[in-house]
Amino acid sequence: MSQQRTQFASKFGVIAAAVGSAVGLGNIWKFPYIVGQNGGGAFLIVYVVCVLLMGFLAIMTEMSVGRMSQASPLDAFRKLTGNNRWTFIGAMGFFSAFMILGFYLVVAGWSLEYLVQSVTTFSFNGMSTEQLEENFSVFSTASVRPYIWTVVFIVLNVVVISMGVQKGIEKCSEILMPILFLVILYLAVSAFFLPNSYAGYEFYLSPDFSKISPSVVLSALGQSFFSLSLGIGAILTYGSYIKEGNIVHTSWQICLLDTLIAFLAGLVIFPSVFAYGIEPGQGPSLAFIALPAVFSQMPGGIAFSILFFLLISIAALTSTISLFETCVASIVDHFNLKRGWTLAAISLLLLLTCSLCCASLNPALHLTVFGMTVFDFFDYLTSDILLPLGGLVMSIFLGWCFSKDKFHKALTEFGMPEWLFRIYMVFVRFIVPVVILLVMLQQLGLF
Ligand code: ALA
Repeated sequence: MSQQRTQFASKFGVIAAAVGSAVGLGNIWKFPYIVGQNGGGAFLIVYVVCVLLMGFLAIMTEMSVGRMSQASPLDAFRKLTGNNRWTFIGAMGFFSAFMILGFYLVVAGWSLEYLVQSVTTFSFNGMSTEQLEENFSVFSTASVRPYIWTVVFIVLNVVVISMGVQKGIEKCSEILMPILFLVILYLAVSAFFLPNSYAGYEFYLSPDFSKISPSVVLSALGQSFFSLSLGIGAILTYGSYIKEGNIVHTSWQICLLDTLIAFLAGLVIFPSVFAYGIEPGQGPSLAFIALPAVFSQMPGGIAFSILFFLLISIAALTSTISLFETCVASIVDHFNLKRGWTLAAISLLLLLTCSLCCASLNPALHLTVFGMTVFDFFDYLTSDILLPLGGLVMSIFLGWCFSKDKFHKALTEFGMPEWLFRIYMVFVRFIVPVVILLVMLQQLGLF
């Protein structure tokens, strides 16, 4: 029924792979623009609370489900319970991973385009903010280039997955994550010296609590799940490749590193946004306009521009590989199909889905769902609905329906102290489901 299950080679490999999956466009591209759209500093605080209280617990939960079942998302819940009643949780994760790939691969393709533009325009040299905005708008709605870069990114995924994902992810992450960290740190320091950077810090770091609303909490919750690769099967799948190690330490390290990199991305982008007069709530284009504006001005900008877009592309690659692999492994395990054919079929389906997302960015084509572009709709549906909903049903399953003894054994054997397990169970049974439910109901206007 299932393929031979690979195990990660080392503890560092587990961290590197999980951080490789977590750290991606969600940190560098998505987090800063969501902060911008949700009122800056107030959102940041809500986000950190979501990571500490919900994300940390959810990582431990997903890892333990993967570890206990030694199966990918579509089979994990049947293996744990002996029936198919809870398989829909894994199926939701599978579909979320697929839909996220639909828009994520398009943005990953933008990174490759900007990597090339860094060289061809000498790091956007001499381009004004208006020209950079125009440059992005013309490129992202063009009829050929964004599709080509998306195809290139899909092909890169296929090549790496064909060669063996675990080793690729572990190796890439071990080498590239520290470099990514150093580059972001350097850019954050450089941004400090830009004119009027203070206004950016004020927006980013001084909270206005009147801005906190249910929709801000829901966005923060969805973003924390997205950024930590939760509810999309990736952490569950990686958990199934682990037999040893301390789950508390591992989860804590993933949360810390992922949040730190997202925070640093904000320290790069907001001072730049205010220095160059760009609207911080402009949405997905923020990283592709604000950062080129910084690179065009900074000494040695061309090297940094190349390095940054190379690293953001690689960060996106390690994340997409984990999502791609989750989809492929789920289908291969569940339907007992050949891996090569499954990979080819999923790639083709993704090509169609990505093309739809990409085309929807061209307003002339009117490809909208509920008043949103297909691209925005997939993002909204996954981050704001499916990922929190996945967290809700998973906590109901583990808190109320799964054997407490088995769950206790799995977690305490995996390094969780008894006192933490007790607190953890209170969260899993009461706090997590109630908070997620209230926020979602309020958001839907149901009370
Ligand atoms: N966790 C991945 C990211 O943040 C999906 O990009």
